[in-house]
Amino acid sequence: MTDFHTHILPGIDDGSQDLEETRRLLVQEMQQGVTRILATPHFYAGRDTEEHFFRKRERALRSVREALAADKDTTKEETAREGDRPGPETEGRGRLPEIRAAAEVYYFPHMGEADILPRLCMEGGNLLLLEMPFVQWTESMYRDVERILRKQKLTVMLAHVERYWEFQRDKGVWNAVFDLPVYPQINAGSLLRFRSRGFVLKFLRAGHQVLLGSDCHHSEYRPVNLAAGREVIRKKLGEGVLKEMDLLGEELWEHAGK
Ligand SMILES: [Fe+2]
Repeated sequence: MTDFHTHILPGIDDGSQDLEETRRLLVQEMQQGVTRILATPHFYAGRDTEEHFFRKRERALRSVREALAADKDTTKEETAREGDRPGPETEGRGRLPEIRAAAEVYYFPHMGEADILPRLCMEGGNLLLLEMPFVQWTESMYRDVERILRKQKLTVMLAHVERYWEFQRDKGVWNAVFDLPVYPQINAGSLLRFRSRGFVLKFLRAGHQVLLGSDCHHSEYRPVNLAAGREVIRKKLGEGVLKEMDLLGEELWEHAGK
């Protein structure tokens, strides 16, 4: 199981502030059977310099990998709780997850032409997590997404699509964007709140192939909640939808851009 949207790297954005918090989030990921984690710290063009961002991310990633290697056994013990029955949701428990660096890139005008985008993709691939603006989407935004796909030939995953819907009074650009070969990412938490659950289930029923992310920031306030979100999907739409989601996730993890 893959978590495609996390703020798990320490000290880089408004997510985890230190290694201890990262460790708590990692334990939650492992307890829920997550075996692959995309680390997606916020990237705002113009707010941070590119080199500073990459340097901070590299340092944070290295510290997490070193900590994981050092306390491999204790982390395993914590996650392998007694009484757990084996099954698809417990498969990854006790196995240290693979972490890959990426970024949650906030939209900026003319980003379709921006040279930096390939460096912000998932390491070893061309998967870009794009956060769209929380306003009515415009034609020029659409053209940027199209250029990222067609000219830059990147694979685009749109972050937490459930959060843009309420701003789209005119659905024209929204529909056009989802006619492009983009991959919508849904936050698991949206399935746990009445206000957003209806939209997400309708979106899934319409046949969109989505990827799930926790968008975790903090083990208490914005925790890893993939297991609970998946449970809602299982109950409302059946196991088959989860299986398709997992297959798509594996495919993107293994092959995006290779
Ligand atoms: Fe996020």
